[in-house]
Amino acid sequence: MEKLKIGIIGCGQVSRVGHGPAIKKDGRARLVAVADPDDENRTNFARKFRVPRAYSGHREMLEKEKLDAVVIASPPWLHCAQFQDCINANLHILCEKPLATSPEDCMTMARLADGYGKIVQVGHSKRFETGFERIKNMIDGGVLGKVYQTSVYWHYYIPDFRKGWLRTVFDYLKKHGMDLEKKYGTWRYFDERAGGGDFFDHGPHYIDLLRFFFGEIESVYCTTRQFYESHKFEDLAVAVFSLANGSVAVMEKSIMVVGRPSGFEIGHIYGEHAKLGFEAFQEYQHRPMKLRLYKKLNIIPDIYTPLFLPGGRKHTLYYRQMKHFIDRLHDTADGSDGKGDRWAATVRDAAIAVAWTLAAYRSAAEKREIRREELAI
Ligand SMILES: NC(=O)c1ccc[n+]([C@@H]2O[C@H](COP(=O)([O-])OP(=O)(O)OC[C@H]3O[C@@H](n4cnc5c(N)ncnc54)[C@H](O)[C@@H]3O)[C@@H](O)[C@H]2O)c1
Repeated sequence: MEKLKIGIIGCGQVSRVGHGPAIKKDGRARLVAVADPDDENRTNFARKFRVPRAYSGHREMLEKEKLDAVVIASPPWLHCAQFQDCINANLHILCEKPLATSPEDCMTMARLADGYGKIVQVGHSKRFETGFERIKNMIDGGVLGKVYQTSVYWHYYIPDFRKGWLRTVFDYLKKHGMDLEKKYGTWRYFDERAGGGDFFDHGPHYIDLLRFFFGEIESVYCTTRQFYESHKFEDLAVAVFSLANGSVAVMEKSIMVVGRPSGFEIGHIYGEHAKLGFEAFQEYQHRPMKLRLYKKLNIIPDIYTPLFLPGGRKHTLYYRQMKHFIDRLHDTADGSDGKGDRWAATVRDAAIAVAWTLAAYRSAAEKREIRREELAI
């Protein structure tokens, strides 16, 4: 089988830790070119992953290279324009979430993807986490029965490094060649173009999972807070979603909660016959989640069943997501991993996830519930 030629737009954190290693590990594709205007990120990435050609602009890469597929892993306000360029170059596309920062851009991308004859997948990578895959199969298999509620608590602590002694340390390190703000992509907190704060970056993951597991969302009510003056958007959000299946989902996302460095990502799904409890680990740790099933019958003896998930790099979400993408490019998605063509998030799914995230912000601003009819797309 001839190896597919893949290019990456954006050589930052997710490419470094996720897509780059995943393409290498899969082995059925070659990373032939990358594009990134940042000299340091581009050069380091190309060296680390032995990419033969590196460009400062993605258009030059698209013009000069004969690619089969491209991964768009730049900040989200750039996705729409780069996506259009990749469509014009007739490439298969894996585009990172959040799809874009405005409903207009999301709709433009959804329209372009409709009827486009190539594979287009959005990096809602949690769909490829082995634990969430197991949960989806259990929900579909009726293990929980009717679902009443989902609760997700996703918190970590990011100190205010724009002031005090941390500012001094960051400035000192930057002067000596280590730019931690760039390394950790702090545009999320400080750049107006990011579209929102921490909830805009992470909310779409679980909004997408809610729809993937249970179907459409009917409404959202949300409260947000901004604690750091230096940030452009909120640092904490609590959103309550009502779903068409009658269940309720609560999502808390904050960077203010003091705890272990990689934070807490914990959830519960309560059903008629059983409850599922999960604890996911920061995706860059490459650890399988902890998953527990509490059956109704076991309430009295107070025991739960731990559900073991395979460990090791090839079972992590970025590897499995890339494997699925490459399977689809080879037209083997049904055969090799059994997921079929409808497992990955489509552009429309990702557009809806952004629309609900923006609806949550609107709810917080207007202090009222926002219903599906009012969605911005
Ligand atoms: N699916 C996931 O699990 C996951 C995890 C992390 C990040 N992400 C998403 O991936 C995207 C990138 O996030 P990140 O953490 O890697 O950010 P990052 O800041 O570490 O990397 C972004 C890279 O894009 C580059 N860039 C800027 N302008 C560019 C341009 N015009 N053309 C090409 N490259 C350009 C930057 O120089 C940087 O190297 C975001 O949309 C983010 O939400 C997804």
